[in-house]
Amino acid sequence: MAPPHDGKTAAVFEEESTPERRISSVLFVIAMQTEASPLVDKFRLIEEAESVFPEGFPWVRYYGKYKDLNINIVCPGKDKALGVDSVGTVPASLLTYASVQTLRPDIIINAGTSGGFKAKGASIGDVFVASHVAFHDRRNPLPKRDIYCIGTRQAFSTPNLVKELNLKVGKLSTGNSLDMSPQDAAGIISNDATVKDMEGAAVAYVTDLLKVPTIFLKAVTDIVDGDKPTPEEFLLNLATVSAALDRAATQVVDFINGKSLSDL
Ligand code: ADE
Repeated sequence: MAPPHDGKTAAVFEEESTPERRISSVLFVIAMQTEASPLVDKFRLIEEAESVFPEGFPWVRYYGKYKDLNINIVCPGKDKALGVDSVGTVPASLLTYASVQTLRPDIIINAGTSGGFKAKGASIGDVFVASHVAFHDRRNPLPKRDIYCIGTRQAFSTPNLVKELNLKVGKLSTGNSLDMSPQDAAGIISNDATVKDMEGAAVAYVTDLLKVPTIFLKAVTDIVDGDKPTPEEFLLNLATVSAALDRAATQVVDFINGKSLSDL
């Protein structure tokens, strides 16, 4: 058979002429219960009775239908021994991997709270969409290993969404500590980050491997370059900022509803 007249292969020709399908399944990966609860209520999701995850794991899944979308929210749950949220990169990456394998989402939203840098324009309650994510607490001076450790990845690009919803855009830097050591600070500056969290780059590592488009939605609970101690400021603002995150996440889902990936 002769190739299509412009010389493209049949596969490319077919792909270009096939209309992209609408997004039908959205997976939220959320580290803390306080961050997830308002969204579970807003979307009227129910907690699954029989876990799709391995027996004995603390991971929690909420699911349901909102508008035309199947929504799943997964959380790493409470540490078995201490009863606190299983925050950080290790639970986030494991949970993301297992959830994608089981739930096959069209798109992932990693939503959560973050520290923000006022020098980069962040204020308490701001909700940022991350353009890039990277690690600030993994170091190796050897050639190429240095770049591997930083692990910079571009987030899925959503120009229409950020414009329509008037969301702030900035770079996100991830590490396993709520505080910031001088070495972490240097990494964050080098990453040109506006917001700092404990999961984003780990989620990105997994979703990059699994080729699932991922949006990072981060609400600012504390100003890292301000004068208040981070743990106190974080706890003080957690509930109100979770509500702001919930409003932004709802707007994002409303925007996604009925659209395909290329519309975002
Ligand atoms: N989540 C909320 N505030 C944070 C901070 N300052 N660092 C890391 N994760 C956070």
